[in-house]
Amino acid sequence: MASDDQMDLFNSAAVSPQPASTADPELIPTSATVPIPPGTYSSMEQMSQHCNHCHRCGLGATRTKAVVGRGNPEASILIVGEGPGQNEDETGLPFVGKAGQLLDKILESVGLTDTDVFIGNIVKCRPPDNRTPTQEEMNACRPYLLEQIRMVDPQIILLTGASAVKGLVGDKRGITKIRGEWIEWEGRLCMPVFHPAYLLRNQSRDKGSPKWLMWQDMQAVCAKLAELKAEPELS
Ligand code: URA
Repeated sequence: MASDDQMDLFNSAAVSPQPASTADPELIPTSATVPIPPGTYSSMEQMSQHCNHCHRCGLGATRTKAVVGRGNPEASILIVGEGPGQNEDETGLPFVGKAGQLLDKILESVGLTDTDVFIGNIVKCRPPDNRTPTQEEMNACRPYLLEQIRMVDPQIILLTGASAVKGLVGDKRGITKIRGEWIEWEGRLCMPVFHPAYLLRNQSRDKGSPKWLMWQDMQAVCAKLAELKAEPELS
């Protein structure tokens, strides 16, 4: 697509209704060199329109649908995965395949509902053949995640798998090393946990197994959330 055509996609006439800020050519996310300043978006829907036209990295060329998120945009917990797979690319919704079904079961098992969580990913478009997103792709997509964090303003961020940890907080250690330990990032509490796809490949529930550890980590998340909710609001 010619860059002029890309610019046209973001004209207020082409995407309406849009507040003036998103029609500003300076904010058009056609290249990773174009910044997306904090406060650009006022809703996930608005951001989704940009993501579906985004070519900040090569993943835009092969996506069917950008996958922005599902759940409550005012949730207490923001869950971050790696990136969309085939089911997600087709539906435009995150975690709707087997790993997603397991994630939903895990949440249900600790009493968390759709109201408690918003679910998104480090990259919004499917990496071909479900490969791990590159650092360049994660960097290109990062402003969208930062906007999601700003809009949801969660009390806890659950980082599922090593890519989510690397993509958000920049820690490159393996997930087995860092899971279960709270990370403070930009004044927010983040909990790294196993990715549900990893749990699908490791079915044991024995003490010390990945599933058993996930259960411990989710208990820690729920306990922390209860503690935070019990604290009087500072204002
Ligand atoms: N795995 C992820 O990390 N994200 C999805 O949306 C689906 C599977």
